[in-house]
Amino acid sequence: MCGIVGYLGDRNVYEVLINGLKRLEYRGYDSAGLALVAPGGEIKIYKSKGKVSNLEAYCSGKDLTSRVGIAHTRWATHGEPSDCNAHPHYSEDGNLALVHNGTIENYQLLKEALQQHGCKFHTETDTEVLVQLVEHIRVTNNCTTLEALQAALKQVIGAFAVAVVEKNNPDMVLAARRSSPLVIGIGDGEYFLGSDGTPFVEYTSKVVYVKDDEIAVMERNKPLKLVNLDNVEKKIDVKKLQLSIAQLEKGGYPHFMLKEIFEQPITMRDCIRGRVVEGGSRVILNGVMDNKDKFLNCNRIIIVACGTSWHAALLGKQLIQDMCRIPVEVEYASEFRYSHPVITDRDVVIAVSQSGETADTLAAIQIARSKGAFVYGVSNVVGASIPRETDSGTYIHVGPEIGVASTKAFTGQVLVFTMIALSVAQYKGTLTTEQVKAVGEYLMRIPQLVKETLKLNDKIRNLSLIYTYARNFLYLGRGYSYPVALEGALKLKEISYIHAEGYPAAEMKHGPIALIDSEMPTVIVAPKDHLYEKIVSNVQQVKSRGGSIIAIVTKGDTTIRELADHVLEVPSVPECLTPLITSIPLQLLSYYIAINKGKDVDMPRNLAKSVTVE
Ligand code: M6R
Repeated sequence: MCGIVGYLGDRNVYEVLINGLKRLEYRGYDSAGLALVAPGGEIKIYKSKGKVSNLEAYCSGKDLTSRVGIAHTRWATHGEPSDCNAHPHYSEDGNLALVHNGTIENYQLLKEALQQHGCKFHTETDTEVLVQLVEHIRVTNNCTTLEALQAALKQVIGAFAVAVVEKNNPDMVLAARRSSPLVIGIGDGEYFLGSDGTPFVEYTSKVVYVKDDEIAVMERNKPLKLVNLDNVEKKIDVKKLQLSIAQLEKGGYPHFMLKEIFEQPITMRDCIRGRVVEGGSRVILNGVMDNKDKFLNCNRIIIVACGTSWHAALLGKQLIQDMCRIPVEVEYASEFRYSHPVITDRDVVIAVSQSGETADTLAAIQIARSKGAFVYGVSNVVGASIPRETDSGTYIHVGPEIGVASTKAFTGQVLVFTMIALSVAQYKGTLTTEQVKAVGEYLMRIPQLVKETLKLNDKIRNLSLIYTYARNFLYLGRGYSYPVALEGALKLKEISYIHAEGYPAAEMKHGPIALIDSEMPTVIVAPKDHLYEKIVSNVQQVKSRGGSIIAIVTKGDTTIRELADHVLEVPSVPECLTPLITSIPLQLLSYYIAINKGKDVDMPRNLAKSVTVE
């Protein structure tokens, strides 16, 4: 949700910034801008509505000479996407320019106070309030910009990552954060700044993750300094960035989403590597092993997440309940945080987040920790806030997911839940070694079976042509296939903008059945499992009302083939592993429908990859 880039050094600043913005575009793409500090100190600001390519076109032919700069790609919160509301924003006197990711909740109050001091505002953003506040404090107290920023951030309520450059001090960048990500890259006599490490991966792998209420002071020819809002110096912990450029490129695919769908045989292998061992009869997750008492003695497990991660959490619930016989609840993090939850130190809270930065999930973690619960994270991005804020956890290790619509991260999360369930079950004794092995063996074969499933690609591309102009879709599933149906519907909504509802198949008769007619395609996830006979009845109910049916079935299924308009056959696996297979054709179906409609699947409208605001 908004991407920040910064650079101080001797390279071509503009190039570093614009290429960095392209890498961060997945975080927001309604407008972009940059501030370049010219050698004499003058700050030049260039902004443009729309994608980074618009900004690039706008900058073409301009004098972009500079040695320091900051840049931003926006996901609008306050004020519509426009040239004017795009960041950077500057102080009225032109001394400061600032970019911001997050929201300043008390911006209206701060704005009114500044207006009483004669400040004028030119945009609808909360960010302009912050930059004017910093400069107002600097001028009235005759202090440094660092001191003014410290004082201003003490007044701010909300989440932010900010970067500031100053005309009076042209060889300095200040950057601060609270609940929004910010990473410093340390080069040889140069500093980089990013919302994550992607903008500067080719230049340095030495990174420092800025913590809440810390300000990084980057000055030419001086070592990095980290201070808190009371100006106490903080320890600098340099880490190694675990990222490669190849992971950030499309590798011959037209879109990141398709690349990420097709990567799943590899990402799944990476996810289980070294964790499912001894021919599948043992599962080792260090986070669970080191904390097995917490899992064995807990009263219940609560899983908190948002969006696709919440769908993975629903599967986590079924897996853990089935295999470990521990009660599990699943909550939307956004609801949980304001629900006055009853949590004790006998609860285990599992927070699931691909980005590891989702604001609602982070807030839920803080509440759970404050009540003494043991908090376990399931995340993809190494070093992100959620893995740092949790007591322990497991990375899904599927590599950077750039497409806004989550695909490989979902299957990675489901795999991790499968391994959590299996490992707790083996410690608890709720599954025998043979039972663990029966699943574990298949788990090791899953990457190959996913590869086979991906052979449905051409069939799904053709099928998608029939349904491109449908206005609504219903997705149905039962048991393990119900969260898969929810996820399939979400994928379609996100990238094709077709309305789609996911429903437990048996609930259809309690309402949604009224929607069914020849215009309403129904996607039914119906692998051979213990609810198979039941879902066949649901298929019949749709059929007898004239609905058209696309069914995901186990290879060799003849019953549903007779009823459905189209069947997509997938390999047979144990019931608890079916989501890892059945979700693949749904990802492809949504991808191709969106492509047929000419939509931008990697950057769908209004969305952002990392939701760091409430
Ligand atoms: O990074 P997270 O997993 O915490 O993100 C949660 C949701 O914002 C995310 O899953 C969203 O729903 C995706 N766009 C789904 O494709």
